[in-house]
Amino acid sequence: MGGDRVPIGVLASGRGSNLQAILDAARSPDYPAEVAVVLSDVEGAFALNRAREAGVPACHISPGDRPARLSSAAEEEILGEFSRRGVRLVALAGFMRIIPSSFLSTFPGPVINIHPSLLPSFPGLDAQGQAFRHGLKVSGCTVHYVDQGIDTGPIIMQAAVPLERGDTAESLAANILKEEHRLYPDAIRLVIQERILNVQS
Ligand code: GRF
Repeated sequence: MGGDRVPIGVLASGRGSNLQAILDAARSPDYPAEVAVVLSDVEGAFALNRAREAGVPACHISPGDRPARLSSAAEEEILGEFSRRGVRLVALAGFMRIIPSSFLSTFPGPVINIHPSLLPSFPGLDAQGQAFRHGLKVSGCTVHYVDQGIDTGPIIMQAAVPLERGDTAESLAANILKEEHRLYPDAIRLVIQERILNVQS
């Protein structure tokens, strides 16, 4: 993915702290990506406020009524919006719906995600709580390509977070989140500049 400032699209469902980390990184003129648009399946998602605050177009896409899925109308709307904005990489940032395989085969660039565990351990929901309850000594976060499974695609980058005496599930989650904010912008840079494995092409 050569060229200056690759336009990226972000899908987010919630507070958008990872989106914020990407927006902050993209303020640097050296950063190889710019956030072209942020879309959310949740109308009041704070992520949309963060995007607007940064001057980035943001809108809610009604996802349809199947839990954890996207209707085909929503899928088309998202693909249409990304295409209009010239988006070449999609970053999921706390997006709580499954990306349909038709989306992955239609979108012409990589789709990547961040997950709060060292995958392949603890895919899915409450990864930090699961890690804590297992008594893990080291957990962390993973940026990976999105495939048809849930948190199963090829791994791009990982960061480890040790559990310290006195940690709780909440403090572990907070420590992992801090690492996520460092890792995700770096991983996006790597995907854009280093052209590491691109499963979509
Ligand atoms: C993060 O922990 C991310 O790893 C997971 O969802 C959470 C999103 O947090 N996929 P935020 O909305 O970016 O603050």
